[in-house]
Amino acid sequence: MKLIDGKQIAEVIKEEIKAEVAKYIDDYDVAPHLAAILVGDDAASDTYVSHKEKDCKSVGITSSIYRFSNDISEEELLRTIDFINDDEEVHGLIVQLPLPKHINVDRVISHIDPKKDVDGFHPLNIGKMMLGHPAFLPATPAGIIELLKRYNIETSGKHCVILGRSNIVGTPLSVMLSRKSKHANATVTLCHSKTTDIKEITLQADILIAAIGMPEFVTAEMVKPDAVVIDVGIHRIPAPNLLSGFRLIGDVNFDEVSEIASYITPVPGGVGPMTRVALLQNTLTAFKQMVRPS
Ligand code: GUN
Repeated sequence: MKLIDGKQIAEVIKEEIKAEVAKYIDDYDVAPHLAAILVGDDAASDTYVSHKEKDCKSVGITSSIYRFSNDISEEELLRTIDFINDDEEVHGLIVQLPLPKHINVDRVISHIDPKKDVDGFHPLNIGKMMLGHPAFLPATPAGIIELLKRYNIETSGKHCVILGRSNIVGTPLSVMLSRKSKHANATVTLCHSKTTDIKEITLQADILIAAIGMPEFVTAEMVKPDAVVIDVGIHRIPAPNLLSGFRLIGDVNFDEVSEIASYITPVPGGVGPMTRVALLQNTLTAFKQMVRPS
């Protein structure tokens, strides 16, 4: 079994981004700028946004966080998006999800200027991605494809089984892996909560991607020997003997599955760092398109 070290690959890519950002600052005296909107006090969202802020800083990207309480109105949120859309000094804009229930998430995402939509969630970017046109690709699927590419894992003609059909991971990844392109060309099966006989399907997977949001859902008996296993899940479980009081596990039972997989991503240190770096890549792309449109 080989461990897919997302943390190490992400560090390499971050160095590449950092060098490119530095060059732009030298040549044009302007740095890429990412704005993030955070609504409410969800602890996980707060952590994700802090990570994004830290990541930006580490490569020379400027960031601004717009924080709002849970009771912000949809209109006020839309007005803030208008303001950031119009701010020429900001190149990327993300609205951290989930949003409070009284806010229509589709309306909010559709309000983001597609040229600044570095999450790749706007319908225009999703449509372009579906057609294989240049677009901002959602960070987690883009990070997974980059990992497969950097580890020279063949996807062409392979059977990729994806567990989970979220708009953020499973659904876009199913499209991206099945497109006619070098690091795709896979045959994809997308499993979800209504899929029957999941184990029979996962046992056929050359590449199994778990993005189902259920701790250690994938066990050894569900995995074909020598399959490649990618774990998108991240869950905190109590660990009283650790200083932090918790440890992180994924959607895959790592101890069992690592015995039979040919490659596997750990949690933490697998997909997570790649997701984080993909957002930086998209922000740099947005910046380049605005500063030097081709
Ligand atoms: N919530 C969970 N993942 C994401 C993400 O990739 N982007 C945003 N904006 N919110 C999220």
